[in-house]
Amino acid sequence: MNATGRSEDRGPGFAEAIAHPNIALAKYWGKRDDGDRLPAVPSLSVTLAGMLTRTRVRFDAALDAAELVIGGAQASVGATARVAALLDRVRSASGRLERARVESANDFPTASGLASSASAFAALAAAATAAAGLSWSAARVSDLARRSSVSAARSVLGGYVELPAGRAGDLELPALPVASSDHLDLRIVVAVTREGPKDIGSTEGMLHTTRTSPFYAAWVAHAPSLCARVRDAVLARDLEALGAAAEESALCMHASAIAAAPGLIYWTGATVEAIAEVRRLRARGLAAWATIDAGPHVKVITTPADEDAVTRAIAGVPGVLRTIATRPGPGATVVAGAPAER
Ligand code: PMV
Repeated sequence: MNATGRSEDRGPGFAEAIAHPNIALAKYWGKRDDGDRLPAVPSLSVTLAGMLTRTRVRFDAALDAAELVIGGAQASVGATARVAALLDRVRSASGRLERARVESANDFPTASGLASSASAFAALAAAATAAAGLSWSAARVSDLARRSSVSAARSVLGGYVELPAGRAGDLELPALPVASSDHLDLRIVVAVTREGPKDIGSTEGMLHTTRTSPFYAAWVAHAPSLCARVRDAVLARDLEALGAAAEESALCMHASAIAAAPGLIYWTGATVEAIAEVRRLRARGLAAWATIDAGPHVKVITTPADEDAVTRAIAGVPGVLRTIATRPGPGATVVAGAPAER
């Protein structure tokens, strides 16, 4: 993380940070049943430019409890409690006693079911530690973010980022940098297939898969080799190998969820149509591979050269409502109120 702080602007106990969502090229799905939010499989993502969360944290002795405002509206009790848990960790690490008010806003529609917890908790971890006067490394901020949302650990860093699987007894598990955002200049075209929130959140969905899917054990056994293939392909700048491994990872993850009892099907007809179109594009010689998270949207991995043709084709698929253009981007950044020594 870097800091372009104007700390004198807002006084002590205040900081503002920005962070971006990420898309996993090798998916995380499932937690260990020991430890504090430790992933059962390694994952590798690319942090995106083009969508952004901005979060302000102010510690204030006048507050009795944590306050959370998202996009200008008071947040739910559940969302506030999840944020308060992160703030409690920051208060005990820094020795601060005051509660904090958090204001957060996305420049992309939060209700669209597109990943927002990753950028939200990455921005919150960066802003809260800075506001508390902690000069933590990106690794420590990443570990803090992971305890709120596993995928948020990856959004603390920019470019290509790996989060290893947790092991028994792990007390810390930060994401690690794999390559900078300009190492491999790919494009990801997001095909939005539904507006409105997803049915079953990822936390609940993966717990259900862990408990009931006969294919979950096979997923956990196979995921490390998929992640290694993605890592090798990123390092070798081999987009074809990367796309193939990323598509396999997404389909294996969804296969484990679909086999749960009752089956967890995140896809709609438009999801399947978009996957079919991606395969037709590939058959025509274009660079296009699909990945899908815990929702019906399809994210198409492509090259800068093929981005326009892929976007046109995907936008024309029945049920695709709109597309969002994204590319590799930076990690979480404290933009105001950074500790002086940063
Ligand atoms: O950490 P969460 O709850 O945002 O889970 C993320 C799960 C997936 O998006 C489906 C995969 C991933 O690795 O991001």
